[in-house]
Amino acid sequence: MTDQTTIQEQISSLESSLEASTINDSSRTSEEPAERQTEGQERSKWDIPRTERDDPFQFGQRFLENDEAVWDHNAWDHVDWDEEHAQLAQEKISAQRENPVNSFDKHLYMTNPSRYWDLFYRNNKANFFKDRKWLQLEFPSIYEHATQPDSGKKIILEVGCGAGNTMFPILHANKNPELKIVGVDFSHRAVELVRESAEFDENTCAADIWDLADETGRLPAGLEEGSVDFIILIFVFSALAPTQWETAVKNIDRLLKPGGEVLFRDYGRYDMAQLRFKKGRLLEDSFYVRGDGTRVYFFTEEELHEIFGKTLEVERVGTDRRLLVNRKRKLKMYRVWLQAKFLKKADN
Ligand SMILES: C[S@@+](CC[C@H](N)C(=O)[O-])C[C@H]1O[C@@H](n2cnc3c(N)ncnc32)[C@H](O)[C@@H]1O
Repeated sequence: MTDQTTIQEQISSLESSLEASTINDSSRTSEEPAERQTEGQERSKWDIPRTERDDPFQFGQRFLENDEAVWDHNAWDHVDWDEEHAQLAQEKISAQRENPVNSFDKHLYMTNPSRYWDLFYRNNKANFFKDRKWLQLEFPSIYEHATQPDSGKKIILEVGCGAGNTMFPILHANKNPELKIVGVDFSHRAVELVRESAEFDENTCAADIWDLADETGRLPAGLEEGSVDFIILIFVFSALAPTQWETAVKNIDRLLKPGGEVLFRDYGRYDMAQLRFKKGRLLEDSFYVRGDGTRVYFFTEEELHEIFGKTLEVERVGTDRRLLVNRKRKLKMYRVWLQAKFLKKADN
């Protein structure tokens, strides 16, 4: 068993290599090392193509059955944490709790969150391309029921669409002349990026400013209550403050058609991205502010059941847990993502 100092050294070294491989602090919105560096940069040492994955919600099938084999591959699926790592995670969380964000800064970050995303998009204009091949594997219902030539009139809404990393791959795959893909984001710069993209096709797409946690009852432009077939939430719910969750779910529920689906993917509790936060970043339990002012929450499966289950039917919540390995430097990185599917309740 490795001693504590060595583990600490490993983690510090891992963090330095992550920092070095990160374009800048704000690029950490990337959920996946594999996606972080694909454009115009060398493939990162953590770069594991998700296309290796198998069935939806199966999250890959390479099992680590013998601890000694850990260095034989770059990535392992469904990995439980070893004791040392669990202990280290607890220590990190305790240290974060002892040094939260000061109240002045907290007020700043909680007051006008879209401002920081605007700055993020202003500062990272060229770094967005992500070829999300895994969408089709993880969320097949879109491709089975919305993009087929005979799917008929369908509306897909992506909330927190960013630069269109989900909208555009769906558009590419689309064969349905009656499909409408709407992207909304509360950052006006994100919406501009989508609209200005060469891929934006105004016959099929629309993009607008909208706050998922809007409290005024305003719906996204052009969308009526009960009109949306699919709502995609990919790494957007984590940007909300816990006090906004209830309103956000109600807004989603209002937009969904009877039988409509919510497709969700976001950060899981104790993901590496959570554990690497240092002093002065914790806003509330499991809720942090990055160096660029954008906020991020790390969910558990139970929380998702509770947050969404009050209003929507929970069809599936799963954890995508992976161990990424730097074989040369003998470093381990634990990633945790949550994926879920919720449905509009029949009696709503
Ligand atoms: C981590 S990025 C993810 C972008 C995109 N979904 C993707 O996966 O590439 C989070 C996005 O959500 C947007 N966002 C955060 N809070 C939001 C809110 N309350 N309403 C709408 N969009 C929001 C941000 O502006 C940002 O574009």
